[in-house]
Amino acid sequence: MSTCRQIAARMVGPGKGVLAADESIATMSSRLVGAGVEPTAEHRRQYRELLASTPGLVDGVSGIIFADETLHQHFSDGRPFAEAVLALGILPGIKVDTGAKPFTGRPGETITEGLDGLAERLDGYAELGAAFAKWRAVITIADRLPTRAAIRVNAHALARYAAACQQAGIVPIVEPEVLMTGDHSRHRCAEVTAEVHGVLLTELAELAVDLAGIVLKPNMVIEGVDHAERSTPEQVAESTVDVLRALPTDLAGVAFLSGGQAPERATANLAAMQHLPTPWPLTFSFGRALVDPALAAWAGDPARVGAGQAALAERVAANAAAVRRRSELQPA
Ligand code: 13P
Repeated sequence: MSTCRQIAARMVGPGKGVLAADESIATMSSRLVGAGVEPTAEHRRQYRELLASTPGLVDGVSGIIFADETLHQHFSDGRPFAEAVLALGILPGIKVDTGAKPFTGRPGETITEGLDGLAERLDGYAELGAAFAKWRAVITIADRLPTRAAIRVNAHALARYAAACQQAGIVPIVEPEVLMTGDHSRHRCAEVTAEVHGVLLTELAELAVDLAGIVLKPNMVIEGVDHAERSTPEQVAESTVDVLRALPTDLAGVAFLSGGQAPERATANLAAMQHLPTPWPLTFSFGRALVDPALAAWAGDPARVGAGQAALAERVAANAAAVRRRSELQPA
């Protein structure tokens, strides 16, 4: 089995998910400010160390996605982040896109950048210990959006990124995120998500990306935040798995983003999905739904590192328990 296949299988292994702690410097800084913490490089480092060194994290987390800044930083004991988490049995990953930028001529839409020099950067990240990478494409639902053009260019970039990662022996997390922003229905989200996945699969096939060596990180199929009705976990689970059924069986696995859902809701939706048979594991790669409670509990106070870690451990345990149930519900 190729290295990418082995790593991808480990990332979505039974009872495990991936922690997304890869907010850009700008996003992380604004989250720190929101929690009353001065947004310095050292505070960003301390926060990421708090997360990564949470006792027992490895019981529910197979990998952590870091930002470029963090992969160049060190734990307080002097070890680089990648080395420190590897010693804990956790795979280090790296966000390699450089962000969603306005898509010229397509108001309200973005195209994710970062392909220039990507092959060289991946080699550098592999040397720093990265086992996997992430690239996030962003699709917006609105009256006349998304356009077919936005879907195509973003899917094409995701496929080029994925092919470059596999060439470098790094597993690509392929993240086509259909945003929850807006008042659209769950049905509309299903239509758009299905279209995005269809175009993405074509692009991945054209570049001969090995699906058994990638982890797909989609949105759940869910109504927009301003929609009048709120879906139940069973509805979200059924709509999501309905859309995902179009994916080939050789895909290594699916690890959802949380997309701004409240932590408990994301967990309940993930738990409901475990009842539905699929050929690949369905797990979590949450950011906010795992780390928001930890950031609020810590709030930059060195005396509250333990409280921050307890908050993260609680969310990880809840999500890991949800995905661990799959093996009981669906014996092999
Ligand atoms: P959220 O779970 O907060 O959506 O973040 C996941 C992620 O990695 C976004 O790129």
